[in-house]
Amino acid sequence: MRRILVTSALPYANGQIHLGHLVETIQTDIWVRFQKLQGHECRYFCADDTHGTPVMIRARQEGITPETLVARIHAEHSSDFDGFHIEFDNYYTTNSEENRLLSEEVYRNNRQAGNIRVSQVRQAYCERDGMFLPDRFIRGRCPACGAEDQYGDACEVCSGSHAPLDLKEPRCALCGDAPVERESEHFFFRLTAFESFLKSWIRSGALQTEMVNKLDEWFEAGLQDWDISRDGPYFGFEIPDAPGKYFYVWLDAPIGYMASTWAWCKREGRDFDAIWRRDDQMEVYHFIGKDILYFHTLFWPATLHGAGFRVPNAVYVHGFLTVNGQKMSKSRGTFITARQYLELLDPEYLRYYYAAKLTARVDDLDLNLDDFILRVNSDLVGKVVNIASRSAGFIQKRFDGELCARYPEDGGLRDRFVAAGDEIATFYAGREYAKAMRAIMQLADEANRYVEARAPWTLAKDPDKSDALHATCTVALELFRILMIYLQPVLPKLAERCRDFLRLPPFTWEARLQPLQAHRIGEFSHLMARVDPKKVEQLIQNVAPPVESIAQANAKSAIKAGKSAPAASNGDAKVAASASAPAAPTPPVPPPSPTSASATIDIETFGKIDLRVARILAASLVEGADKLLRLTLDVGELGEKTVFAGIREACPPDTLPGRLTVLVANLQPRKMRFGLSEGMVLAAGPGGKELYLLSPDSGATPGMRIR
Ligand code: MSP
Ligand code: ZN
Repeated sequence: MRRILVTSALPYANGQIHLGHLVETIQTDIWVRFQKLQGHECRYFCADDTHGTPVMIRARQEGITPETLVARIHAEHSSDFDGFHIEFDNYYTTNSEENRLLSEEVYRNNRQAGNIRVSQVRQAYCERDGMFLPDRFIRGRCPACGAEDQYGDACEVCSGSHAPLDLKEPRCALCGDAPVERESEHFFFRLTAFESFLKSWIRSGALQTEMVNKLDEWFEAGLQDWDISRDGPYFGFEIPDAPGKYFYVWLDAPIGYMASTWAWCKREGRDFDAIWRRDDQMEVYHFIGKDILYFHTLFWPATLHGAGFRVPNAVYVHGFLTVNGQKMSKSRGTFITARQYLELLDPEYLRYYYAAKLTARVDDLDLNLDDFILRVNSDLVGKVVNIASRSAGFIQKRFDGELCARYPEDGGLRDRFVAAGDEIATFYAGREYAKAMRAIMQLADEANRYVEARAPWTLAKDPDKSDALHATCTVALELFRILMIYLQPVLPKLAERCRDFLRLPPFTWEARLQPLQAHRIGEFSHLMARVDPKKVEQLIQNVAPPVESIAQANAKSAIKAGKSAPAASNGDAKVAASASAPAAPTPPVPPPSPTSASATIDIETFGKIDLRVARILAASLVEGADKLLRLTLDVGELGEKTVFAGIREACPPDTLPGRLTVLVANLQPRKMRFGLSEGMVLAAGPGGKELYLLSPDSGATPGMRIR
């Protein structure tokens, strides 16, 4: 038996749990449940990440103490995770006594080992608010390009980075006053001293290859010492022997993994030291998103090592969630909270959908809501549950709930199901859940083919075929049982309902080896409903962007001051026909609200789009596609191009020839049923009849670049 300790990253206590967080907690929870099913001891720890300026400011704005705020959020987060059947051994908080003591210990040990140094730092300070301003709490004119209203760390217009004090006419994002410059003493962790330790740690099998490469880039760029202190007022732990100085939130946040473990150890009478101070009792694995790699693969192992604690066995990094191909954002209507989802849909649908898409790589993962409905309905309801619902009734009615006394001859089918378990286990252990789900669904297909070939509904009509009916249904339920063992890490509640109706004790992976025979099952009850597309539609409605001004959106994101970029105006230009959209010629996502903005991109990203003036030479209807027009475009030096555009309802084709418009010229060409689409024309408006093709002022000529 292995002993394994697992964590997910600690969610910030200044926001709600959303479907992005759940990629991580569901990925982790599946892994933990799989390890337990294998018979290992596996413990899962997490907590809220409570410290830092954003929580302090938000509490101040709500007129409550930060402690009250984090207690409320802790209750919300706990119930959200519970709603998705995330089974933590402890869901704690970083604002705990255990975390304070451990943070102090990590700091003291590092100080004693000579890993802490002190330097003077000049920083912007707001006299009205009485605090030093983090980069994201200062706004001003970009020193390089002169763009107005930029954050203290980087310019979104020229994508240059700068020091907050270099901003022209800087303002405090909270009160609007001009900050002053102040010097203060900061504590630095000497990351530079850990380079060779880190280089060997990342090659010890602790990281995915992609991440090792990323870290090599960082090593090449040169490590820098890490500023671990902040001046008060700050919601956090005061640094020992340094009144008025606090640990930067990222110093104590990962120590929260240990604090959560410690609190559990006290409750359960377990030896904390054997877990975290030595490594003789447990393996340690962290699951994190790619955005917090630096903290978990450089700072965290280095601070642990420097303080004489053990280091993690591995850090598993996953990519980001997109919804219908878009980044999660409130203004796009793609920001779905755990609560909004749970109000309408079964959490196991999402667990399965994520599992069906998760790999061991760092790729992003898309929640496409149409695909979600199809996938869940066809796999879980259509394939898996179907096997039981087609056979259980006969066992009940005709055989008094009794399966065959000896498991019948099935042509080796059951043996194949049992043998497949080894490969499926390897997939789970290696976080290749998509492969595991595919293998399981192939088995489900086989089981259904078996049932169809034996047609129990026909056997049931002939009293002479009673034995064959009994055998067929016994085999079907046995195959179903094995499938549910394989699916239990992903679908714990469905597995529980199945065990209830089959009258079985808790599953183990080994339980698949012994066939069900001479066993009496219970009443078949409803196992899982199909996804109701109306509920999904309702969810999309509920997350549609609120009408709020761009100014408000900006103010809010300044307060949030987290990692996400602020919103910026992008007007309301909408893609009329995307040559790269997955299936439909019009984008499947709800259009952004006219009054709110999308997430910002930097100028470089924008510069990658080759926009050109194009003259429409011809426009014709496309047979079999009543929304599309085939446009032939003259793009000057780029020659002629054909584009299929979803503008037919708004633009009678005979009005188009001769008109100038705007073409995205460097979109990857897309093969459509009707021919190749070599770009995309731009139009404004919500779609259908309300679409307005863009055109340049007169004087522009085909092929001109738009920038
Ligand atoms: N508080 C820090 C983590 C401290 S760990 C010692 C933090 N919090 S977070 O709430 O922003 O994110 C928590 C986890 O959720 C991170 O691993 C992050 O990568 C993950 N995700 C947040 N948004 C996500 C998506 N849209 N998609 C996938 N994972 C995402 O970072
Ligand atoms: Zn201020």
